[in-house]
Amino acid sequence: MLTTAPRGTMDILPAQAAKFQHVENVFRTLCRQANFQEIRTPMFEHSELFNRAVGEQTDIVQKEMYTFLDRSERSLTLRAEGTAPVARAFIEHGIYAQAQPTKYYYIAQIFRYEKPQQGRLRQHQQCGVEFFGTRHPYADVEVISLAYRFYRQLGLRQFDLLLNTIGCPECRPAYRQALTEFLGSRLQHLCPDCQSRFERNPMRVLDCKQEACQAFLQDAPTPVDYVCPSCAEHYQQVKEGLTALGIEFKENPRLVRGLDYYTNTAFEFYSYHIGAQGAIGGGGRYDGLVESCGGPATPGVGFGIGTERLIMALEAEGVTFPAPPAVDVFIAALGSQAEARALTLLGELRKADLIAEFDLMGRGLKAQMKQASRLGAKRVVVLGDNELERGVAIVRNMSSGEQTEVSLGELANYLR
Ligand code: HAM
Repeated sequence: MLTTAPRGTMDILPAQAAKFQHVENVFRTLCRQANFQEIRTPMFEHSELFNRAVGEQTDIVQKEMYTFLDRSERSLTLRAEGTAPVARAFIEHGIYAQAQPTKYYYIAQIFRYEKPQQGRLRQHQQCGVEFFGTRHPYADVEVISLAYRFYRQLGLRQFDLLLNTIGCPECRPAYRQALTEFLGSRLQHLCPDCQSRFERNPMRVLDCKQEACQAFLQDAPTPVDYVCPSCAEHYQQVKEGLTALGIEFKENPRLVRGLDYYTNTAFEFYSYHIGAQGAIGGGGRYDGLVESCGGPATPGVGFGIGTERLIMALEAEGVTFPAPPAVDVFIAALGSQAEARALTLLGELRKADLIAEFDLMGRGLKAQMKQASRLGAKRVVVLGDNELERGVAIVRNMSSGEQTEVSLGELANYLR
């Protein structure tokens, strides 16, 4: 226990951390280009927020939240998803009163008590965006195309964008009614999970991953058949916008998403190379969310992309990541006086933006050279008593083997 991380969590060691950094850097750059601003919300929220926003009857709220009482008996929940906290901040800081739209992005840890398996963690990271203040279908297109560009820019090629519309509160009741009638008469054929979903929220049944249920659901009515003219028109414009940008999508009329706040557009990105948990991102429109959390009626649309799954998909496609930068300079100091000078020299070199390292293991010259090459150092600065007295150092180029004597005052400049 003491020496293992909790089930469903993982350590990200340096080689893997470099991949995360690369993915995050690309994400930040693309968000900046599209004028999304970073927002950081707390790691935990009042439980009520997720209950209300995500929905009492969803799997997340029913069985996946890390909820606890703090020492003042307040019920708090570790961030179970990224959208509700941003909507809460949008209300709390009166952002709705500013000129709209407002566009945010985040890189955040998410916590869900799920059954761990490949690609399904109890702590995962999402790169997400939330776009508030307009119902314009091109806001949906902006958001979806940003996700699409993100995958492509990272080098991902084999993924699908699945698209659907799930209507609005005006057209949803008629659909719900039709679905309830369809499912009600065939309930005995569905798995126990679906039977309880049917009681809680019939639309959740469409989401079942069991093959037997999916086969049975082939003929179920789908939301798109029941959408009102305004929702149909919205969906049409989203599709036209994506097409205009050359973004291919596949319509999936049974895509419903696992959170209750969605209205109209729903989408997911899929990779087929990473096992059963192939959803590498998902999102949609949530025009009722801000109001249901206590703010003024404000439309919104956004996505969340699971960084771990995305990296798995990139690795599965054999995409190469930029190599982490190697050490520029290794100072091999010989003797305590040289070691003391090396300490101050390191500061000068690092100030000149060089990645600089030295030896603290008391190694001899040969072993220090070996350590320098283990670190991939491009150059080694040899500093002995003799050099120190003359105010110079010997710089060895590790690939050519060439050696040059350089005065200590000039060293940073020379190496840069
Ligand atoms: P979500 O579909 O629950 O949506 O999660 C978004 C993405 O996070 C998934 O597509 C997947 O890549 C990743 N993910 C989810 N659960 C796990 C897990 N247990 N382990 C690893 N990765 C996971 C949301 O959370 C919405 N807040 C997205 C959104 C933003 N909608 C509008 N704005």
